[in-house]
Amino acid sequence: MSYASRQADAQGHVQYTDEEHAVWNTLISRQLPMLPGRVSQEYIDALHGMDLPRDRIPQLDEVSAKLRRHTGWSVAPVPALIDFTRFFALLAERKFPAATFIRRRDQLDYLQEPDIFHEVFGHTPLLTDHRFAAFSEAYGKAGLKADKRDHAMLARLFWFTVEFGLINTADGLRSYGAGIVSSPGELVYALESDLPQRKRFEPLDALRTPYRIDIFQTVYFVIDSYDELFELAQKDLLPLVAEARRMGMHPPTYPVRDIA
Ligand SMILES: [Fe+2]
Repeated sequence: MSYASRQADAQGHVQYTDEEHAVWNTLISRQLPMLPGRVSQEYIDALHGMDLPRDRIPQLDEVSAKLRRHTGWSVAPVPALIDFTRFFALLAERKFPAATFIRRRDQLDYLQEPDIFHEVFGHTPLLTDHRFAAFSEAYGKAGLKADKRDHAMLARLFWFTVEFGLINTADGLRSYGAGIVSSPGELVYALESDLPQRKRFEPLDALRTPYRIDIFQTVYFVIDSYDELFELAQKDLLPLVAEARRMGMHPPTYPVRDIA
């Protein structure tokens, strides 16, 4: 069963049920102890700075107020799925598109659609980091300039950094991607499993790497510092995209499903 976006009232607030608040409480309470030693210290520090409530789902305007103070970003409520053009346009305006529904208790461990726990807990902390924020904005601007046929290729760059990125630190490998940080299962798998490849992050390589959204990843890309993303934000991404298109896709490293 799919989820529908939750409508805000006249004050811009979404009314959640007690059960929905309780699901948030369960998700955040079990994920916080998972972070030390697995998630980059910048993310953990930024998460503390966000001071998210434990006992209730935060409203997006509360989250936005904190982001604005740091980097001028905010979160914008959107339906569960939006098209690429809207997605790029929001990022270019320093607005992070966020779904407002929360998963049901029978899908605590995994759901394909991004819910508000994924959006707020996973995505917003690093948007207080100016390097990460600059990359996200530049990415949106590049997307708006890109030819439509290149949208899926650009999506891969976002996927392998913002969603599923890993980072080398003095203390060892850590995760920073929102899809990993907000998932108890993938947080352990991404760092400890022998199954996935962990490749040094190269933008061209990431652009050419296919992924599936419905399984744990088979490839992760590892940065050495958020400075790398900041430096990438200063470059024109479109020639890289053109080069990736010219070189073609890497073969999938996961089982390819038959398309009915
Ligand atoms: Fe996400």
